[in-house]
Amino acid sequence: MKKFIRKAIQKLPKLTPEQITNLIDLLADENELLSIVIDSMENGIIVTDTEYRIQLISKTTKRLLPMQNETDDRVLWAVIKDHDIADYLELHIKRGDKIDEEEFYIQLGKGLSVLTVTVLPLVLDKKIQGNIVILRDITDKKKNEAKYRRAENLASLTTLAASVAHEIKNPLASMGIHLQLMQKELKRESCLCKESASEYLDILSEEIERLNGIVVDFLFAVRPMDTRMRPESLNELITELFEFTKYELEQYHITYETEFDERIPKIEMDKKYLKQALLNIIKNAMAAMPDGGVLKVTSYIQGESACLDITDNGSGISEENMAKIFEPYFTTKDFGSGLGLTVVYKVIREHGGEISLDSQEGKGTTFTISLPLPQKERVMIDWEGGA
Ligand SMILES: Nc1ncnc2c1ncn2[C@@H]1O[C@H](COP(=O)(O)OP(=O)(O)OP(=O)(O)O)[C@@H](O)[C@H]1O
Ligand SMILES: [Mg+2]
Repeated sequence: MKKFIRKAIQKLPKLTPEQITNLIDLLADENELLSIVIDSMENGIIVTDTEYRIQLISKTTKRLLPMQNETDDRVLWAVIKDHDIADYLELHIKRGDKIDEEEFYIQLGKGLSVLTVTVLPLVLDKKIQGNIVILRDITDKKKNEAKYRRAENLASLTTLAASVAHEIKNPLASMGIHLQLMQKELKRESCLCKESASEYLDILSEEIERLNGIVVDFLFAVRPMDTRMRPESLNELITELFEFTKYELEQYHITYETEFDERIPKIEMDKKYLKQALLNIIKNAMAAMPDGGVLKVTSYIQGESACLDITDNGSGISEENMAKIFEPYFTTKDFGSGLGLTVVYKVIREHGGEISLDSQEGKGTTFTISLPLPQKERVMIDWEGGA
């Protein structure tokens, strides 16, 4: 159709008035069709020229984003009522930055809605003739994510509650038994000698301490963490950790290796918590290599995440246990609390990250942690083509 219209325009001087009328009708029809398509799209679309003046606004746009009424010849950021979006667009479009799915929270009527803004160049005849701004409403998607997170939290709380119930059974049973023994002895002897009374009381106070420990650990596991996020270097954090653990590693005859991707930018993290989480993983690795071994930490970028592989060549984990190791109180150690990896999981999730593992019995284990890269850095890396 486009080709036909172009050809007809070239021959315009030779066309009869009737043919010209037909051509205009055709153009009007095509224009109307395009308007209908653009207006019925779910995403909002704004087109500007190279001076950032608005050339087109789709109907959906006005529903998604409050705009000033008169739009004739007005510059994009003067028309958008929301200051955050207007200022952001002015700064970044003028600088020629790539804007890809940038998220904004805006007040729309009584509710809050979440929009993503993407800006693409408007290319005509191989030349940039302006910008195309695409707005997407992701409020429902966000709500579903929050719902999913809540469900996940509830599920983990149920597992945790079940584990706590199981945990407190033993000390309670032991306290019950010892109280019964005391009662029996009291009945039999009608008094308790000092030694046996103090023996019973020692046991009771030990069990109370155990119960207290369980409650304290439980509270740590369920309470929201007061994370203080700041941009920090992941590679530096690992270096500091090895500096801190090197004597202990030496004692266990464990050598350590690091392989860092220096391109990893600073990441939003609570250094104190993340350090504790990584330390828990390193301690587990040490315990899995009682006769020495190699502990290797590799950092790299994958997609929109910074990743860490922490690999040991220790005992490995059986397939059956692999499903349980993040569960609270699961331990195969005589003196383990079984909360080390529960804390790790919680800290990583709090950072918006993921943790997974790969293990083979007798060969070793790799824990992989991925943490989201800051939005801006993701774009830079995209542009560099991941090189
Ligand atoms: N690198 C590893 N190699 C082999 N087994 C591991 C490794 N990491 C974890 N595990 C297994 O997972 C279990 C749970 O680990 P977790 O850190 O949660 O508790 P724990 O180490 O037993 O006790 P705590 O950390 O409280 O001292 C461990 O008991 C162990 O069986
Ligand atoms: Mg542990």
